[in-house]
Amino acid sequence: MSTLSRRRFLSTAGAAVVGLPLLSKSEGYAQPVSDASTGTRPVRVVSSANGQEATRTAYEMITAGRDPLDAVIAGVNIVEDDPEDTSVGLGGLPNEDGVVELDAAVMHGPTHRAGAVASLQNIRNPSKVAKLVMEQTDHVLLVGEGALRFARAHGFTEEDLLTAKARGIWLYWKQTLSERDDWLTPPDSVLDADVAEFFNRPTGTIHCAGINSAGDMSCVTTTSGLSFKIPGRVGDSPIIGAGLYVDNAIGSCGSTGRGEANLQNLCSFAAVELMRNGMSPKDAGIEILRRVVAHTTEKRLLRDDGSPNFGLKFYLLAKDGRYAGVSMWGPARYSVTDEQGTRHEDCAVLYER
Ligand code: GLY
Repeated sequence: MSTLSRRRFLSTAGAAVVGLPLLSKSEGYAQPVSDASTGTRPVRVVSSANGQEATRTAYEMITAGRDPLDAVIAGVNIVEDDPEDTSVGLGGLPNEDGVVELDAAVMHGPTHRAGAVASLQNIRNPSKVAKLVMEQTDHVLLVGEGALRFARAHGFTEEDLLTAKARGIWLYWKQTLSERDDWLTPPDSVLDADVAEFFNRPTGTIHCAGINSAGDMSCVTTTSGLSFKIPGRVGDSPIIGAGLYVDNAIGSCGSTGRGEANLQNLCSFAAVELMRNGMSPKDAGIEILRRVVAHTTEKRLLRDDGSPNFGLKFYLLAKDGRYAGVSMWGPARYSVTDEQGTRHEDCAVLYER
């Protein structure tokens, strides 16, 4: 790729794509649901596209008898620990000051308890800290310094989470951000190809939800949040009802993508409520995306054709084992593991690029 100049960066960030109306894609896999005669349910784990190892690991743990919450947390820990994944944990893209700030939440279906941390620095597994908030405090959400002190008290190791790769991407972003500061655009750089994909301000995240054969469900969402965010910005991931929600009698939903749009609509809670009222996971997810679109009125968030200029995805799992991934923009995929193996499936999408 040629040098990504300041001007090119700006035009790349604002690049328009042609939006098309709703497209539904066949899910392609049989979705066995609960067996009414025996009361058993299919073990199933769903996650965002970056969660294939997470679903595989969580599925193995659930089928071995482990609690679904322990299983999905162990699954996302693989991604939190991966320095190559720039959306979460170690190696996550930092805030505008170059500091990695992590958000995470967990929710345990059988007890309907939840725990979360936000703006947590220096701890690579915020999902584990969120679980301890749930189990060992009378609170649901700890933030910033308080969350860090809580993690320290529980013996978590502190480390600099900013990898050389993430620091390079952040520095290049800073150097090419504006003509009205003293940072000079770097000369032709090997970073050009590597950083181009990050200039659309990714909100990469991992969500993972699982159900065992008894029908008990749990889920987790963990993220480094919006890349280059204003320090202290918290997205949807650690907010119960937005970044994730589970009602053990109904189902679960979790999200990745533009957190602000989710926060304004409390999408995961709303999606589970739609499932309570009889909608399938896919229909509930698509309905929530439509609701987000209807509530998006600011011009800066809309393309010329009126479609939103941001991404948002939901991963839904129903008590009877049905599941879906839905995405504002397609094509998009998500991860599933069940008795048919581990795979990516196509999301149902609202707009196709
Ligand atoms: N969905 C992740 C975030 O907006 O922080």
